[in-house]
Amino acid sequence: MSQKILLDKINVPGIKTYEVYRREGGYASVEKALKMTPDEVVEEVKTSGLRGRGGAGFPAGMKWSFIDKKSGKPRHLVCNADESEPGTFKDRFLMEYIPHLLIEGMITSSYALGANLSYIYIRGEYMWVYKILERAIAEARNAGWLGKNIQGSGYDLELYVHCGAGAYICGEETALIESLEGKRGNPRIKPPFPAVSGLWANPTVVNNVETIAAVPWIVNNSGAEYAKIGIGRSTGTKLISASGHIKNPGVYEIELGLSVYEFMNSDEYLGGMSSDRPLKAFVPGGSSVPVLPANLIYKTANGEDRLMTYESLSDGGFATGSMLGSGGFIVYNDTSCIVRNTWNFSRFYHHESCGQCSPCREGTGWLEKVLHRIETGTGREEDIDLLWDIQSKIEGNTICPLGDAAAWPVAAAIRHFRDEFEYHVRFPEKIKNRDHFVAEP
Ligand code: NAI
Repeated sequence: MSQKILLDKINVPGIKTYEVYRREGGYASVEKALKMTPDEVVEEVKTSGLRGRGGAGFPAGMKWSFIDKKSGKPRHLVCNADESEPGTFKDRFLMEYIPHLLIEGMITSSYALGANLSYIYIRGEYMWVYKILERAIAEARNAGWLGKNIQGSGYDLELYVHCGAGAYICGEETALIESLEGKRGNPRIKPPFPAVSGLWANPTVVNNVETIAAVPWIVNNSGAEYAKIGIGRSTGTKLISASGHIKNPGVYEIELGLSVYEFMNSDEYLGGMSSDRPLKAFVPGGSSVPVLPANLIYKTANGEDRLMTYESLSDGGFATGSMLGSGGFIVYNDTSCIVRNTWNFSRFYHHESCGQCSPCREGTGWLEKVLHRIETGTGREEDIDLLWDIQSKIEGNTICPLGDAAAWPVAAAIRHFRDEFEYHVRFPEKIKNRDHFVAEP
């Protein structure tokens, strides 16, 4: 049984409420942090090796230390709760069932950054979770954890929850900041990074929900203790949203370093495939990372055991950071059509492109169009190379990673499942008359 630090109290009845959360030791990290200097708290987070849990895996403590403290400008912590990556639902779970953990993390982290005004930006579709957070914030305020002179320390913090309006792009940190400022959510060019010029041009740290929720444990137990959990540069635990053709879909907290084999097959986790249909493919970290064939699930391309770490999940053959991504683990059996699935993802990215950069605005539309005709049995042999060409012209040519995220799944699908694309264009009648899947391309 691996160690739980985020979901260890999730089954305590009433843990959603302040009273129970506090009785279970909640808000101790704020008490402890307020007796430390902000820089000491930053040091603990640095020592922990905690990496950004939104998808990019950037070291959180390093990001915090980039924040400009010399300019004298107000600083902000913004929690990215705009969880929209297809296949990812772990932040929702955390906020819905243990909201005070995020509030506690926000207070402790804001103190470390010297922020007196912080925000949680939550996607509009999570309206019921927004209400849960609002209630938790009101409870925390009544108990003296927010507002002026928190617990008599002299530290002030205002915390607001802001609702997005249904745009995936607003999960990109600079688009999120634009949206929070009341503008259309178009990503900004980086640098400058938000740590230098973010919300209202003030130094701003944007961190994912899960990252911020890990801070209370780190402050309570020390960064060094956190760094003992996990393996190598993948320290700590990670929430994984698991879906698809598995026995036990849901949200899991795993210790980084767990083998993918154990995660897939042990009854403590996914429990294996949901039926006797064989595994065909999997997406380890949400729709923005490459789909991989079954033969790459348990072993890396080098033949090593595949682990649930940033490093081990990184040989998709594309310029991705890590395929651990946002932890959206999607499993497909052989009844799934890779072309249909890729078209579905492309439809999503085309719809969600903000339209600012032409390779993404135009390219995602072309990807969707060509994939749709292949999927519906009207594709041409040259369409496969055309798709490859389009995706290669999007990748790396846009302001934000949405373009890459649209390109990589297409490239990976062609690279690993080209025979399935060829089957679609060579046997259009079979495609038109088939059931919803292709079992034996
Ligand atoms: P990124 O690698 O550009 O940045 C990561 C973080 O590090 C950012 O906060 C950035 O400001 C900071 N950073 C990097 N270099 C810096 C420097 N020199 N100085 C100061 N700060 C610096 O990646 P990004 O765009 O934040 O995230 C991309 C990832 O997001 C993808 O890998 C994807 O997996 C994930 N994603 C997650 C979604 C979700 O719903 N959780 C949705 C869509 C994508």
